[in-house]
Amino acid sequence: MTTPRAVRVVTSSTEYDVRIGSGLLETIYEVVIRSAPKARRVHAIVDSGVPTQLVDRALEGIKAADLSVSRSEITPTEHVKITETWHEQITQAAAARLDRSDVILAIGGGIVGDIAGFVGASYRRGLHVIQCPTTLLAMVDASVGGKTGVNLKTPSGLLKNAIGAFHQPTEVVADIESLKSLTLRVFCAGLAECVKHSMLSADFGDAQLGSWMREHSNEILAQEADALAELVSRNVAVKAAVVATDETETSAGDMGRALLNLGHTFAHAIETLPGVRVPLGDTSCPIMHGEAVSLGLVAAASMSEDLGKTSGLIEPLESWLTDLGLPTRCEGLSDVDAILERMVHDKKASGGTIRFVIPTFEGSCRVIESPGDAPILKALEAIQA
Ligand code: GLY
Repeated sequence: MTTPRAVRVVTSSTEYDVRIGSGLLETIYEVVIRSAPKARRVHAIVDSGVPTQLVDRALEGIKAADLSVSRSEITPTEHVKITETWHEQITQAAAARLDRSDVILAIGGGIVGDIAGFVGASYRRGLHVIQCPTTLLAMVDASVGGKTGVNLKTPSGLLKNAIGAFHQPTEVVADIESLKSLTLRVFCAGLAECVKHSMLSADFGDAQLGSWMREHSNEILAQEADALAELVSRNVAVKAAVVATDETETSAGDMGRALLNLGHTFAHAIETLPGVRVPLGDTSCPIMHGEAVSLGLVAAASMSEDLGKTSGLIEPLESWLTDLGLPTRCEGLSDVDAILERMVHDKKASGGTIRFVIPTFEGSCRVIESPGDAPILKALEAIQA
């Protein structure tokens, strides 16, 4: 057990708490009653990967508090995160007769949280969404800050998160007990977002995040409750500090929410490319989002060095990512034109120019635009197996 903590997220439109602790899902009814006092119905959109008993206990508690509960399930993949699934889910919310005072409860990883959040943003022009992230990646990133949405199917593949809305949750409840059900690979994928935060945290109130993570990597990898609670709280605090400056990622200049895209211009292009694989033991397997972020961080560091903005960053970063069980190389990057094409179409591109976030020194990053093909190709070489 660990002492529960809360991190306040304050944006220009609203504010809410992210609660972090062990066993919080069992008392989720308290959060529902407090944060949506007029609610009579709760519709839970549940990730099929979350152990049934965790979900059952959470929903039994809500029923015992005299609220009507309905439930639907999603088996999450990027290919399921599309408008058809959003439509199925919103149809179920309508069948459950939710009105604007009711609650969508998202229980699961980032894909389920993004779809459920978009159902909550769009059904009847918006109702309460309580996010219950159950993966590390969803706890430290996806559930916080109100980005919701789905991928767009195009003839050349999926355009990541191209359809969506900003819709802040009413509250976020991160029950670190749920991390126990993850495979080590899925847990480690979330650590890539934590490394990302540490690479920009000096500008957002936590210059020591990276050194704390390195010092406590054994406890983190052993999933000790206190270390996990501290890891999640500090990462959420960094994310909250960034979101507070620029809720809708419209800040001009090179600061603001766009910084959270560190590693993501590469990651989104790579992870949607057919045939990209990362080493796993004696074999290799299709890449996961957090793993693509790990590669994206190395690529961004390589680009920064190539542009003369930093030096000596790549090797320590690669060895840290490797120690955290994350890949720094992948197979399947030979179709460079397809990668560049995806980068141009990425929703982070602006006016046809590709934007990258690059580290400029330990704990600090900046946005750059259109660095030209040569540094991009060199960065891709740096992560090619
Ligand atoms: N995941 C990046 C953001 O929330 O802005």
